[in-house]
Amino acid sequence: MSTAKLIYEGQEIELPVVEGSEGEIGIDISRLRRDTGLITLDPGYGNTGSCRSAITFIDGEKGILRYRGYPIEQVANNASFTEVCHLLIHGERPNAGQLDRYRSELTRHTLLHEDMKKFFEGYPPSAHPMAILAAMVASLSTFYPDTPEEMDLNIIRILAKSKTLAAFAYKKSIGQPFIYPRNDLSWTANFLRMMFAVPSETYEVSPVLEEALNLLLILHADHEQNCSTSTMRMVGSSEANLYASISAAICALWGPRHGGANQRVIEMLEGIAAEGGDLERFLSRVRSREVLLMGFGHRVYKNFDPRARLLKAAADRIFDELGIHDPLLDLAKRLEEAALRDEFFIDKKLYPNVDFYSGIIYRAMGIPTEMFTVMFALGRLPGWIAHWKEMREDSSGYRIHRPRQIYTGENLRKFE
Ligand code: ACO
Repeated sequence: MSTAKLIYEGQEIELPVVEGSEGEIGIDISRLRRDTGLITLDPGYGNTGSCRSAITFIDGEKGILRYRGYPIEQVANNASFTEVCHLLIHGERPNAGQLDRYRSELTRHTLLHEDMKKFFEGYPPSAHPMAILAAMVASLSTFYPDTPEEMDLNIIRILAKSKTLAAFAYKKSIGQPFIYPRNDLSWTANFLRMMFAVPSETYEVSPVLEEALNLLLILHADHEQNCSTSTMRMVGSSEANLYASISAAICALWGPRHGGANQRVIEMLEGIAAEGGDLERFLSRVRSREVLLMGFGHRVYKNFDPRARLLKAAADRIFDELGIHDPLLDLAKRLEEAALRDEFFIDKKLYPNVDFYSGIIYRAMGIPTEMFTVMFALGRLPGWIAHWKEMREDSSGYRIHRPRQIYTGENLRKFE
């Protein structure tokens, strides 16, 4: 095993070097404080590996993303979202029999306890669906206690019920009656029907929408230690239950720097369009740091986000198939081109991220802007669960996540 040396005040400290399966190198400082009294300072954790994980590999410099070793491009083109849930959470693709069983379990647990419907009545119609989703997911813990024996069942429950919660939150916001799930439909078709069907009319799920949703969910399914997944691990490390940990992750995702960016991208594009579509004026506001170009930039990708590439290509196909033309898609493409030519973005290595095109596709599918981040949460759920489970089942154990700090406040003073 190789080591790194740290020299501090004449003392030489040897630190183990760990290597990941794709050659990523890290210096293990987990005993540094015990041996020296020193800590490391890394605000925003840009250089901190918080765990070892076998779920998702990203090479941000090369624009590579793999789930359990499979390239995202192949997974996106060949898998169903249900299959990806199994792959991420259990480590392997299910065989045909396993997939059938998994599908039927995910269907059987889709209904909500009838008492939960009453909770929806208490929210104002203007309530953001992310607030409702976070509260409802935490509330599931009151119906389904978290015990080690029920862990796998609770995972199935949340994967199945999350889409019902999301669709009911939407129905509540538009004042329509809830549509109950149907056991003969796939995860995606069931969700679309609960969102868009009305009791007095027949509703046929469009295969184009189903395929588009499948792609979007898969592309959002995991992204290693991002803000919401780290939150999931952080909260889970206190041994808070699965539902509480997911609820916390949903809240972390809500912010505009993370999952909330997809909603902000559309608002930004609408704002630019309303002001006459002057891209140069908008980009000069970005350069002067008045605003951010939402849907651009990423902590890990310093090259194209492969998910953005896939979504950009899918957007054209989906719009063609639906026979829709959205001027915001044209505007987004022109904005992307202009930004990629601009020195400000070139210097800072800022490229479109997954949120740049996802909102435009959701819009074409008839999903309202306020639901975009909920859609992200539905997609990210298997990733959060996979990380929570990986941590809980780590044979070497896990410690409560508890970073240190460098105190910069007042020295001792008297309170008289
Ligand atoms: N528009 C304008 N400038 C930006 C942008 C942007 N979208 N993103 C980063 N920058 C600038 C920063 O101001 C910084 O400039 P400086 O070095 O002169 O101070 C530089 O680029 C480097 O960026 P950081 O802020 O260090 O990047 P960080 O890794 O901390 O943040 C983040 C990443 C939060 C995604 C950021 O790029 C951002 O806010 N983007 C817009 C919001 C967004 O699209 N979020 C979705 C991210 S993907 C996801 O969560 C699914």
